[in-house]
Amino acid sequence: MIVINSKTQNPKAQHSLPFEQYPAFLMDVLDGLGKSQKEIPCKYFYDERGSTLFTAICQTTEYYITRTELQLLNKLLPDISSRLGAQATVIEYGSGEGRKIRELLTALQSPRAYVPIDISAEILFDASRRLKKEFPNLSIYPLMADYTAQITLPEEISGSGRRLVFFPGSTISNFTPAEAGQFLRNIRQFLDPGDGFLIGVDLLKSPNRLHQAYNDYDGVTAEFNLNLLRRINRELDGNFKLHQFEHYAFFNPRYSRIEMHLVSLIDQVVKVGGYQFSFRTGETIHTENSYKYSVDRVIHIGRDSGFRHEQVWIDEEKLFSVHFLTAV
Ligand SMILES: C[S@@+](CC[C@H](N)C(=O)[O-])C[C@H]1O[C@@H](n2cnc3c(N)ncnc32)[C@H](O)[C@@H]1O
Repeated sequence: MIVINSKTQNPKAQHSLPFEQYPAFLMDVLDGLGKSQKEIPCKYFYDERGSTLFTAICQTTEYYITRTELQLLNKLLPDISSRLGAQATVIEYGSGEGRKIRELLTALQSPRAYVPIDISAEILFDASRRLKKEFPNLSIYPLMADYTAQITLPEEISGSGRRLVFFPGSTISNFTPAEAGQFLRNIRQFLDPGDGFLIGVDLLKSPNRLHQAYNDYDGVTAEFNLNLLRRINRELDGNFKLHQFEHYAFFNPRYSRIEMHLVSLIDQVVKVGGYQFSFRTGETIHTENSYKYSVDRVIHIGRDSGFRHEQVWIDEEKLFSVHFLTAV
């Protein structure tokens, strides 16, 4: 349901479309800012600048996820390659800059096709172009899409060879555990028995370690979070003053998740797309959840979603896990 605080008389706000036909980004932002706990879905972080900032987060000392997952992939990929055999088709959700897929494609025996799926057009097509140069014999079908909606895979990938779904980076953590289960069930529907699913999942650990990872010293994560307001200003005719908001990320033990928020530093009124929203000092916009899992919980979600849990790899510090599941 959409609840709006109030509407201004700004002529720019006189949208010619009925409310239900507003673009999804505008609808979701108006809807989210109208809630008592203001919120905006995290998929909107990833405009071009947001994607570049995410790549920079992956290089911070505090963000252990990327380097730990890459180390695990180096260890486990020969095994995945022999399980899948030659001519596999890889479908990657939230492919981003394509750093990890390079390792996977190099390890596989003459992979047949690759379908990167991402909501962020620039990073998706740039990464696909770069990969095509490195793997000239591979057919690449970039799909710019929101994977929380129904996805239609390209017809060209039907045919022989195993399918492998790759979902690295613990992007699954942005879903609630119930949504994660539904997401896996949706994926299971287009796989045949024996097809694979390789997924990276961040593990529950010391809250201080988690806190550091989402509050890096150089403020890259803060910039990434605040960039959402910059995007709203540019694309939705917003007037957020970024210095009047602050990045805030903390571990919420009740839900076993890191929450990211943008905190209003003063009482203020902000306009978006001609609608106005009031903020009290300290009031927040909830911008992202990142659920932290135990290995057992991942195993259960996989089993409940039509997969056999084949193997899990964990680093020595028990920071991160990579799971290989097969469709039953
Ligand atoms: C946390 S980043 C992970 C990037 C990369 N897979 C990695 O492991 O470092 C999430 C990626 O998923 C994409 N993404 C987020 N929400 C999405 C959605 N609803 N549909 C499609 N792509 C999405 C983002 O653009 C981004 O590239």
